[in-house]
Amino acid sequence: MKKAILFLSVLISLSLYSQKNNSDVQELIKQLSLEEKVYLVIGTGMDIPGISQSAQAPQATVGVTKNKVPGAAGTSYQIKKLDMPAIVFADGPAGIRISPTRENLPGETFYATAFPTATALSSTWHLDLVTLMGKAFGNEGKEYGIDFLLAPALNIHRNPLGGRNFEYYSEDPVLSGKIAAAFVKGVQSEGIGATIKHFVANNSETNRMALNTIVGERALREIYLRGFKIAIDEGKPWAVMSSYNKINGTYASENHQLLTNLLRDEWKYEGFVMTDWFAGKDAVSQMKAGNDLLMPGTEQQAEAILNAVKEGRLKEDILDRNIENILRQYLKTPSFKNYKSSNKPDLEANKTLARNIATEGMVLLKNEGILPFKNTLKVALLGVTSYETIAGGTGSGDVNKAYMVSLEEGFMNAGFDVDELMVNSYKTYIEEEKGKIPPKKFFFEPDVLVREKLWTEEELYKIADENDVAVFTLGRTSGEFKDRTAEADFYLTDEEKNILKQISEAFHNKGKKFVIILNIGGVIETACWKNLADAILLAWQPGQEAGNAIVDVLSGKVTPSGKLPVTFPIMLNDVYSSKNFPGKLLDPSAPAPENPLMALPSEEIYEEGIYVGYRYFDTFKVKTSYPFGFGLSYTSFEYSDLSVKTKNDGVEVAFNVKNTGKYAGKEIAQVYVISPKGKIEKPEKELKGFAKTNLLNPGKSESVKIFIKNGELAYYNDHTTSWNIDRGDYHFLIGSNSQDISLTVNVKLKEMILKKTGKLLSPERKIKELKQ
Ligand code: BGC
Repeated sequence: MKKAILFLSVLISLSLYSQKNNSDVQELIKQLSLEEKVYLVIGTGMDIPGISQSAQAPQATVGVTKNKVPGAAGTSYQIKKLDMPAIVFADGPAGIRISPTRENLPGETFYATAFPTATALSSTWHLDLVTLMGKAFGNEGKEYGIDFLLAPALNIHRNPLGGRNFEYYSEDPVLSGKIAAAFVKGVQSEGIGATIKHFVANNSETNRMALNTIVGERALREIYLRGFKIAIDEGKPWAVMSSYNKINGTYASENHQLLTNLLRDEWKYEGFVMTDWFAGKDAVSQMKAGNDLLMPGTEQQAEAILNAVKEGRLKEDILDRNIENILRQYLKTPSFKNYKSSNKPDLEANKTLARNIATEGMVLLKNEGILPFKNTLKVALLGVTSYETIAGGTGSGDVNKAYMVSLEEGFMNAGFDVDELMVNSYKTYIEEEKGKIPPKKFFFEPDVLVREKLWTEEELYKIADENDVAVFTLGRTSGEFKDRTAEADFYLTDEEKNILKQISEAFHNKGKKFVIILNIGGVIETACWKNLADAILLAWQPGQEAGNAIVDVLSGKVTPSGKLPVTFPIMLNDVYSSKNFPGKLLDPSAPAPENPLMALPSEEIYEEGIYVGYRYFDTFKVKTSYPFGFGLSYTSFEYSDLSVKTKNDGVEVAFNVKNTGKYAGKEIAQVYVISPKGKIEKPEKELKGFAKTNLLNPGKSESVKIFIKNGELAYYNDHTTSWNIDRGDYHFLIGSNSQDISLTVNVKLKEMILKKTGKLLSPERKIKELKQ
């Protein structure tokens, strides 16, 4: 009987949906009153504890749907008359961010899986795995009542200090774009929408709501927009979130050139655009620019739009156009299809997936005869973060997870003998120290980590006597609203440097080894201390299964196969953008606002132009600590049999990768291209393609084929406003990282003008860009 009722209700909801789907969106729009139209282009908000009530803050409209999915970032308005449900939007890049409990459902929990953070994910370079994660993510969202995921985030890692780099993929737009597209495909295969964000050039957090990003058209096109274009072409995301910052003088959300001329007219984007939360200033300009939906929506915005239409300053047609963009996507959502979410996603299966992805994204930076090690070794587990392992960053990228596996627990679970005296002394220390940390003022403030525990030399020698190996974890966290600092964040504190030195001395003196685990969200300094360790494993912020995943790699259960999606510089100032990151205040005497939502007008000039990440280091021959694409394995690989075919629409390279070592492992083969000098200067080389092999047993090979389209070989000429290929020799380099090239082949290409674009998004004033 129950089954019959269920079947009937599914049938009814399906037929209601198809009626809606078939009826022309424009027909729906005709039935809306002006007021209803206005409420369709603004959302209904979320409560931000400590912010929404503050007098300085813009007030979010909290609509009737506030409680549909508590803790979600926002919803759309429900239009009862037309049977239009409220659509639910939830963060974020590492897991669904909703409240773990609901008042109306006491006893039930709604924890989400904390997957590895975005940088850890992109370090896998494994597109199918990323799609799997997107699918699992999408399913959790759907089963928890979410219609749109506010992810993936794919802003470029322009500088190591970017506070949200952990939410972003890479310093390279091709890697970022491909990973984002793979993720979007996974999410949307579950029938919920993905939202690519933050569009565009939102690469720092300081004063982000009043920051003017001044960037040249070529750098915008080749570096900052390129990943979004790839994600849109290949992933077809249902939504785009415009960013907080201005781009060359105009807020992204009010920027007609960005949102209409480029996104709609040039790129033919068919989804809808929403603002970032409370972004921009002028709701009417946002409507005109093509920012279809204002999130989370305020009464002031509703009033401004309504009055503008009534007074003839905003054509109702524009509202209709925006609503049409929105509704075309809403019609596909679970809420519109009347999907009854179970609230029971398969958290068990996702636990395993989160662990697998975490291991696959770990990057082995150094290994001198110690890894993998067996669980017969007695481990001295040092470092606060070995016990308080960090799953991910803070702010909207945070996840309400059911549990967190620390490294200590990971070792225990794998049957290791971990020095108990140390465990107890760390636990007592951490408890005491935590008590001294003042509570956060705003929930999204970055966490304050417990200071590193110090040991005397004598104690460390005793520890070295009693254990076989030392494992020390170094942790870092960051999040929204703040960029990281050079001191005590990018650079290690003196205490941290000292303790690494002391452990190294004590253990090496006794002929024992020392392993360092990096549990960090973004790049740190490694050059001055890396010689102290025998092995360094970069675990990133690997999600809730952190401890298990790290031990999977240390113990050799999984051979590490992650590679760096960012360069590790020697010094922070070696990164060219450090010169102007995170921008400067227009009025340096302005007092800092108390409320972090109230940013001060400032500007950040992207003087390095296209020379971001390895494009800068390689071209200007600046030494790095670890180059882009770097990552070791327990086994070794050999590349051979390179062949190349030039086709009308691109170039295909094929080669062989063989496992020549003793362990089964996977290799990430990378294709870089050196373009001819031609009419305009180019970076020394650029990543154009990559592939990860399957798990290869010792002695086994895989043939790899990578096709690179002409468009991907082109550069943007901002004088002629066109994408071009210069005539000449193109060197295709195949290797295991940007500095380790095994095979090379030259291809001659003729001159091509691939696409003429309009002159868009030009800086208001001339930028003195870095030249070779
Ligand atoms: C963040 C977005 C996020 C939104 C909703 C903003 O502060 O920048 O990434 O999706 O909040 O939580």
